[in-house]
Amino acid sequence: MKNLPLSRESEETLLGNRVMLAPLAGISDAAFRVLCRQFGAGPLFTEMVSAHGVAIGRTRLLDEQLPLLEHEHPLAVQFVGNVPEFMEKCSRLAEDAGADSINLNMACPAPKVTKSGKGASMMNDLPLAKEVIAAAVAAVDVPVTVKMRAGWDGNSRNAVSFAQMAQEAGAMMVVVHPRTRKQAYSGLADWGLIADVKRSVDVPVIGNGDIKEPQDALKMVRETNCDGVMIGRGSYGRPWLFLEILRLFEREGIFDGASSPDSIGKMRSPSSLPLLPELADGDFVESLIGRQSTSIGAVIRLHLSLLLRHKDEAQVAKEIRKHLAWYSKGLPGAAKLRKDLSRMKDMETVEKFGVGYFEASASEVGVHE
Ligand SMILES: Cc1cc2nc3c(=O)[nH]c(=O)nc-3n(C[C@H](O)[C@H](O)[C@H](O)COP(=O)(O)O)c2cc1C
Repeated sequence: MKNLPLSRESEETLLGNRVMLAPLAGISDAAFRVLCRQFGAGPLFTEMVSAHGVAIGRTRLLDEQLPLLEHEHPLAVQFVGNVPEFMEKCSRLAEDAGADSINLNMACPAPKVTKSGKGASMMNDLPLAKEVIAAAVAAVDVPVTVKMRAGWDGNSRNAVSFAQMAQEAGAMMVVVHPRTRKQAYSGLADWGLIADVKRSVDVPVIGNGDIKEPQDALKMVRETNCDGVMIGRGSYGRPWLFLEILRLFEREGIFDGASSPDSIGKMRSPSSLPLLPELADGDFVESLIGRQSTSIGAVIRLHLSLLLRHKDEAQVAKEIRKHLAWYSKGLPGAAKLRKDLSRMKDMETVEKFGVGYFEASASEVGVHE
């Protein structure tokens, strides 16, 4: 156990501006993370990475997971696994690669993960979970943190004892997504459990689950006293949600000014940011919040260019489709765009039917409907 009080520097690295992007397998790749950072997302989390895969050299961290690392600090690399030796090895490799913290996934409900005793299954085996956390803690100097759920099912809502165990094992922060494994993503997250965990441990507690609007984030902080918020699905097609939350937190004096729209400049970001010059124009941000399609088109162009920095064109053309559907939510003609998605098989058709849709004026889009 080495969770002594955090130095100011590590507190800034770990908590940043306290408005974090959740790990989202299949979504929060390097491009999406850098995009969200443009809008002020604080500490970023990688998609879950198999500890086993990295430990045996099957997964190459830098090339495959961290190709845009220079734009991402502070960044947590998230591992899923239940073998202490693998966790030790991959944590060390991540630290050497430049990770600012290591996050252990003890929350994933997917059967392919839990059937082998990993992810949320770890909440059923506290002694093993403790060994795994302690192995990572002993291996690295950067902080190790844990992401957890409410528990396995309604009969085993052990978030409080699990968080206490994690703290004892040396975790420096816990992220609580208060649904049980059985709930997966259904029903509502029980924010009361975030408050319970916060009352029961000394390390920072990050609240996660069902933040869809800036007001939800404010409500979560006020109701639970959590030390930061983490946003997953709310960021789909709306990476500027982070900026909206930061603006609200600043207005309401949440987190003593740590969360403010210019907090991004204080993070360890490279000089090459920002990548979206339009952001300097306040009207542009307003137009995004008002869901103006041409402004969303500019965000999509950046999203595509970030994806193309680390994936090939065919893969980008395939992966951008789901994002285009999310970006188009509520816009006129969105149903037609969604129908066109299956036709987008290469960058040319993505440009024509995808980006073209957003960049056409709203009235033109209407005519095509
Ligand atoms: C598609 C998808 C992928 C996810 N991938 C991960 C992951 O890799 N690691 C993890 O800890 N949680 C993962 N989660 C859970 C989210 O990080 C988050 O805890 C959950 O979605 C609740 O937050 P939200 O309501 O803000 O989305 C994933 C969730 C979704 C919907």
